[in-house]
Amino acid sequence: MHSASPHVVTLTARPTRIPPWYAEVEEHSERVASLADRLAQYYGLGHEQRQLIVWAARWHDYGKLALGPGLVNAPRPLSNAEWALMRRHPRIGATYCQRMGAPMAAVRIIDAHHERWDGRGYGEGLARYAIPLGAQIIALADVFDAVTTDRPYRRALSVGAAFDLLRSEREHAFHPDLLDLALNIFSMSAPRLCAMA
Ligand SMILES: [Fe+2]
Repeated sequence: MHSASPHVVTLTARPTRIPPWYAEVEEHSERVASLADRLAQYYGLGHEQRQLIVWAARWHDYGKLALGPGLVNAPRPLSNAEWALMRRHPRIGATYCQRMGAPMAAVRIIDAHHERWDGRGYGEGLARYAIPLGAQIIALADVFDAVTTDRPYRRALSVGAAFDLLRSEREHAFHPDLLDLALNIFSMSAPRLCAMA
């Protein structure tokens, strides 16, 4: 933190020098922010918490900038060694955002966005209610958007298949109540997402 009014300053903060190859991650992050905001709203969170979650969602993958286009936009599944690097992006992004002056609550959300409800995610290995709620919300939006979007090495899942995948992770990757809510909220957003795919 380096400002007398960090909340106001940092929630409008934007990293500088975003290279063109990062555009796809930015577009994904905007969609995740929109879905996460809806989920947070229907979960009953207030304006300030939603603002924080939207900001964190926009920059949740910011750490991928450090990994470079060869890895982030690889047109093939990653090797084990590449995955080891990829698993570092939440911490790298959280560190960047902390340096940018982001509130610690947002930094913790970014750091934890690949944690799983069962503790088998990557990051600190946090489980259940130890995972910040904002990170749980973003994780659901992140997975849904990722699997319903074409990648160079695989086709997008249909919305129905994506819902089956999310359901199969009930109490494994996701908070069960939050998952149920997400299935309802995302089904309302599905036509728009299909049009964007
Ligand atoms: Fe990520």
